[in-house]
Amino acid sequence: MAADEKKKKKMSVAEILAACRKMDSGQKAESGGGSEAASEPSAAAASQSESPQGEAAQEAAQPASVSKAAKPSSGKRPSVQEILAMARAEKQKKAAGGTEKAAAAAEKSAAKPAAKKPAAKPTAKPKPAPATAEEKPHSSNILAGEETPKKRGPVPKSVLEAARRPARPKEEQPAKAAKPKPVVPPRPTRPPSAKAKAKPDQQRRGFLAVLGAMVATPLGVGFSSLATTMGLWTLGTLRFLFPNVRIEPPSKFKVGSPADYPPGYVETKYKTQYAVWIVNAEYKGQQQIAALSTVCTHLGCTPNWLEAEQKFKCPCHGSGFYINGINFEGPAPRPLERYAIRIAEDGQLEVDKSRKFQEEKGQWEDPDSFVPA
Ligand code: FES
Repeated sequence: MAADEKKKKKMSVAEILAACRKMDSGQKAESGGGSEAASEPSAAAASQSESPQGEAAQEAAQPASVSKAAKPSSGKRPSVQEILAMARAEKQKKAAGGTEKAAAAAEKSAAKPAAKKPAAKPTAKPKPAPATAEEKPHSSNILAGEETPKKRGPVPKSVLEAARRPARPKEEQPAKAAKPKPVVPPRPTRPPSAKAKAKPDQQRRGFLAVLGAMVATPLGVGFSSLATTMGLWTLGTLRFLFPNVRIEPPSKFKVGSPADYPPGYVETKYKTQYAVWIVNAEYKGQQQIAALSTVCTHLGCTPNWLEAEQKFKCPCHGSGFYINGINFEGPAPRPLERYAIRIAEDGQLEVDKSRKFQEEKGQWEDPDSFVPA
């Protein structure tokens, strides 16, 4: 018995595993599927015999306690899976024990300097929690807090440094990348529609229709008459602002040299413009050059000179006048009138229509009424 126990104690883990597999394969063979299990122990044995290094490694991996755990307490032989599970549990337990030991050692090492060094060293200022974006103080408040720390409390170093740091110039700030504007293609222009073309015509027609409706109604007629009357009154009022000016030819005009008028000659070219005949005729035994008026002394008609009959004949009522202007037929009650005539400084005859001479009044005797021929 003692020798068996010694043998069991001397068996390595690999040997135990090989024995277990052998037993397990034997069981499987008994149950009918032992062909596959038989190969495993043979392979394990081969590996055991071929590689002593792998054996040593397995010895290190599997502690001796596994052999003890491999023994079932109930007396039944454990399977390979159970043995492996027990070995893993043992390994984990060992690893946990190592960590506990390391923690204990760390505690011892930490306790030693604490006992030697007194804790009289003043601790540094407690680092305040970083200010959030909402609790970030203003720079002036930070400086005020630095001057009166008792009232406001400690200010974090990072905040103080940020407040004392010179402000970054705007030019150094990186310019934001400008967003490219989307290129909008130009909108195509539409050709003018038929409605737009007909719009002016429609507007004109509408205006004419409104105007016609306004004029056609009695009210429109009344307003139109009133507007016309008011317009005429306005024009009449404006007419009074301007004087009546009658544009007439000058009263004095020259009719040429006396030599141009031989005896018995009648010049009719001034009849239309000046209403004057220049005649060289005999009056009371004296040849005179006189300026006769072309106005009939009956009712004011204009007689005509009849060269063949050597008389002035009025077309209105038939009055007749000799070449010297004395009336001799018709209703004319008196001779034609004379205008003043004289020889001007330049030797030409000058007629002045502002002065009249009547024969019935004896005015033809006045030397201003004729020029001796
Ligand atoms: Fe000359 Fe009557 S107007 S005759």
